[in-house]
Amino acid sequence: MKTLKDFSVTGKRVLVRCDFNVPTDKDNNILDDFRIKEALPTIKYLLENNAKIILMSHLDPESTGVAEKKYNLGNIQKSLEKLLDMNIIKSPDCIGEETKELSLKLREGEILLIENLRFYKEETHSTGSGQADMEFAKKLSYLGDIYVNEAFGVDHRKNASLTGVPKFLNHCAGLLLEKEITNLNKISQNPVKPLIAVIGGKKVSTKVKIIDKMSEKADFLIISGLIAKEVLEKNIKFKYSEKIITPTGQLDSLDINKESVKLFEEKIATAKTVLWNGPFGKFEEDKYAKGTLAIAQAIIESKAYSVVGGGETVEFLEKQGIIDKFSHVSTGGGAMLAYLSGDILPGLAALGK
Ligand code: 3PG
Repeated sequence: MKTLKDFSVTGKRVLVRCDFNVPTDKDNNILDDFRIKEALPTIKYLLENNAKIILMSHLDPESTGVAEKKYNLGNIQKSLEKLLDMNIIKSPDCIGEETKELSLKLREGEILLIENLRFYKEETHSTGSGQADMEFAKKLSYLGDIYVNEAFGVDHRKNASLTGVPKFLNHCAGLLLEKEITNLNKISQNPVKPLIAVIGGKKVSTKVKIIDKMSEKADFLIISGLIAKEVLEKNIKFKYSEKIITPTGQLDSLDINKESVKLFEEKIATAKTVLWNGPFGKFEEDKYAKGTLAIAQAIIESKAYSVVGGGETVEFLEKQGIIDKFSHVSTGGGAMLAYLSGDILPGLAALGK
């Protein structure tokens, strides 16, 4: 896989697929800008090297595949302007003559942000053969000379901007994408042992694969009560179920009890590597966040190499002001789980070897 530094970007139109799919409120105000900040090293690198920068992203908080019109990228533009302390040009569309013109008129060191890719169903809807819409991808490719994938969080999707555009342009991974892969490989390839996986959240269906895969490598897995409950109810069998530790007491309680906290703290204290995804209770309400916070603190105190991911978990750690205490905070939720489960992510596959 080629990386940004394999190309000379000076004077070139560099089309960067970002994942600015940040949490927003119902009025489209940004609740957490972690993903925007994580894209800054690549943007700054391109600015320093006098590239003409075109940024593209989806914003689809409800994950419907076609975003509601209120989710325009106006607030992403404002956030970028503030973080970079410069003017960002905004196109009202993501394809078409006007957008192409704006990209061609860009001067070195200028940034153009194009409008939400998911205002077009063609971005997510695959064609009959299950492939991305190549006509839409081609229209996006007119905007750049080089394509950079900086959107790890959405690389588990076959979207046209991820799997189609690289067919038309020279392509590479951005600095964030490189960092994600290097750090996630520290979990998936020869992790320093003991390795403990901490898998929380609600829906077992989204976690079965990662629990099974991690049970092959990890010394222990700690899973949330709600997941444990569904595992029992649905009679789900894991490869190495003897490694799985669950909370004691009522499995669907709003927070884990003191006994479980103690048990989890003791286990986590032995770890040299920890993977964590998903909360352990109704953490949105402070009174039920004690268990999740205790897990976070136990991971920090263990001094283990720690990888954390998942929208809710990241939001929680940001709110607690402890996000920088973890070795790697992934911008991926579903993408991180898919990568660590051993899946081939379509967005990465499109970048080649
Ligand atoms: C995410 O938030 O996980 C990514 O941006 C992907 O979004 P999606 O689930 O709507 O495809």
